[in-house]
Amino acid sequence: MPSIAVLPGDGIGKEVINEGLKILNFMGEKYNLNLKFEEFEVGAERYLKSGELIPDSLLKQLETFDAIYLGAVGDPRVPSGILEHGILLKLRFHFDQYVNLRPIKLLNDRFSPLKKKGVNEINFTVIRENTEGLYAGIGGILKKDTQDEVAIQEMISTRKGVERIIRYAFEYAKNLKGKLTLCDKSNVLTYSHGLWLRVFEELKKEYPEVQTDHYYVDAITMKMVRNPEIFDVIVTCNMFGDIITDLGAELQGGMGLAASGNINPNSVSMFEPVHGSAPDIAGKGIANPIAAILAAAMMLEYFGRKDLAEKIEDGITISIQENLLSQDMGGNLSTSEVGDEIVKILKRG
Ligand code: NAD
Ligand code: IPM
Ligand code: MN
Repeated sequence: MPSIAVLPGDGIGKEVINEGLKILNFMGEKYNLNLKFEEFEVGAERYLKSGELIPDSLLKQLETFDAIYLGAVGDPRVPSGILEHGILLKLRFHFDQYVNLRPIKLLNDRFSPLKKKGVNEINFTVIRENTEGLYAGIGGILKKDTQDEVAIQEMISTRKGVERIIRYAFEYAKNLKGKLTLCDKSNVLTYSHGLWLRVFEELKKEYPEVQTDHYYVDAITMKMVRNPEIFDVIVTCNMFGDIITDLGAELQGGMGLAASGNINPNSVSMFEPVHGSAPDIAGKGIANPIAAILAAAMMLEYFGRKDLAEKIEDGITISIQENLLSQDMGGNLSTSEVGDEIVKILKRG
């Protein structure tokens, strides 16, 4: 009886989470999943009303759930960084969700932005470190607002942190019988990514069956565009993982299609679309809900129901084949109509 804390958040976060819940409710009834949902308000409205981001009492409550299902946070009325740090990163850090799993899978050749690269070529997973690196929030500003101002943002890599994410990636690649690629910038970030490279070389010896290779982050962006078929699993640091997964989202057909899981198998994991609150289209009912629905599918897989996650993905694939699309994909369906159509397809199967 998995219990899910639902945090719709801001902007299109609320709109797309509604559709994810529509699909989860349908699957829950059809397959007797007995899913329990409880919704919590976090985000701009709460912050503007009360100054609260995530109070400790709410964190304590969230600890009692099996998973968190999050929309997105971010609002033009709130200075950049407050909601992102105070809510999203706070949750990832508090629950020590050290794995950010971001599959990059094109579902239909028509939506490939690349000539001659289709569903057989664009299918890999980025495993992004999710609790350290440039996101650790360590640094400061000296002589603020003077000509001598210095801003420092430290990149933290701990052996424990680097080893656990690279090990997770080796295990993932091993299960997939795939290749593991390390993406770093160890030619310049010799301390932080020097450690990544050393740990990668050490763990390679423990996984002789896993084929490996290594690209610097600048070169990997070239390869992702020119030869995406060479990748199965990419492991990388927090910052680079953020950047290359937006590129990956476009390879999949757009930001409206990219899902992610913030995972710690021994804590509370959190599932969310890769995209943000999209203030430019929020409130119009036109956001693509597929990323949020795929994130819901990842959550079911995490609960042990890979079979149902596959059914949802198949349903989405059919909806795309049948041109039941939102505007970002060239269609004219609203957010909720896309959700309704996917439910209709799931009812058929
Ligand atoms: P964004 O992902 O919100 O939007 C980027 C572009 O993609 C926009 O043009 C948007 O309209 C489009 N887009 C995104 N999702 C879409 C969808 N489902 N359907 C159709 N089009 C979609 O990124 P941004 O504009 O850089 O950030 C907006 C706000 O969201 C900022 O406050 C940012 O910090 C925040 N953000 C939050 C998260 C999160 O909570 N997980 C992730 C990224 C950005
Ligand atoms: C993402 C987002 C977040 C990140 C921001 C909003 C903090 O861009 O989930 O990709 O950088 O991780
Ligand atoms: Mn991002």
